[in-house]
Amino acid sequence: MKKIILDCDPGHDDAVAIMFAAASSEIDLLGITCVAGNTTLNNATLNALKICSFINKTNINIYAGCNSPIKRKLVTADHVHGKSGLDYEGEDINIQKGYKIQKEHAVDFIIEQCKKSKEKIYLCPTGPLTNIARALTKYPQIANNIEKIIFMGGAAKTIGNITPSAEFNIFVDPTAANIVLKSKIPIVMMGLDVTHKVLVDENVIKDFLSIGNKTSYFFKDLMNFYSKFHKEKYNTNSSPLHDPCVIGYLLNNDLFDLKFLNVIVEEESELTMGKTIVDWLKVTNREANCYVADNVNVKEFFSLLKEKISLLP
Ligand code: BDR
Ligand code: CA
Repeated sequence: MKKIILDCDPGHDDAVAIMFAAASSEIDLLGITCVAGNTTLNNATLNALKICSFINKTNINIYAGCNSPIKRKLVTADHVHGKSGLDYEGEDINIQKGYKIQKEHAVDFIIEQCKKSKEKIYLCPTGPLTNIARALTKYPQIANNIEKIIFMGGAAKTIGNITPSAEFNIFVDPTAANIVLKSKIPIVMMGLDVTHKVLVDENVIKDFLSIGNKTSYFFKDLMNFYSKFHKEKYNTNSSPLHDPCVIGYLLNNDLFDLKFLNVIVEEESELTMGKTIVDWLKVTNREANCYVADNVNVKEFFSLLKEKISLLP
């Protein structure tokens, strides 16, 4: 069983990633660590508590991490996820009695887990990489006990979604992204190149509703809100389900095509801040440091996600 820590900033697609991971018996979810990104750290932790309460998985411990990026001021994505980070039309979720954020800081939790685990751990960040970079900086030896870091972020051959050059998670904390990319740990980048192929539309929602459990209705509520932004901004009825790609990869890496390349992040230029510069054509002498996802089997991905969602309440 793969031991993982899911580091996230829920967020609608993070919420689906949490449910996907929590439902998967192939995964030993050691804990959920939260970071400021889509929304403030407070909102992100609150949302994580709500999601786990909703699916009755209050055995999953949740940790609060960094409330701002390493060097830059926090930029949030209220325009996509709403003020709470997880807005939707529907009944508010009550956090189960006694279910609280753990006292330990997320960065220390990550370090402790890596130190004490006999098997190597998979780190799965689906928000800005601040917590992971802070952990690697505070206690660099943990690198030896990390099997892989599979992160959602970046754009190799495609344009950005927060600026013309940059993807949101990397834009928020480019310094953290470079620390992670330079760590020499095996890294997988699930960027917009693939996540923009994993599209939720009315047909997907309808198909998931056929499961008939309350989680499938929650999925619908989340996706309905999330798709408003994509509809208004891009006049499209389909929305990219970014973060669950990380969990999909963990469960079945055959779903994705990867290419081992050099990736480095722009930290200086305001114009291209947070751009992932991917040496796709190997035109530099920079050493490959990252497996970049380029393609995905969308049908299989959704069938796996549906299978796991149907295991939840
Ligand atoms: C990423 O940004 C966030 O809004 C999503 O949760 C995802 O992690 C996509 O660019
Ligand atoms: Ca996210």
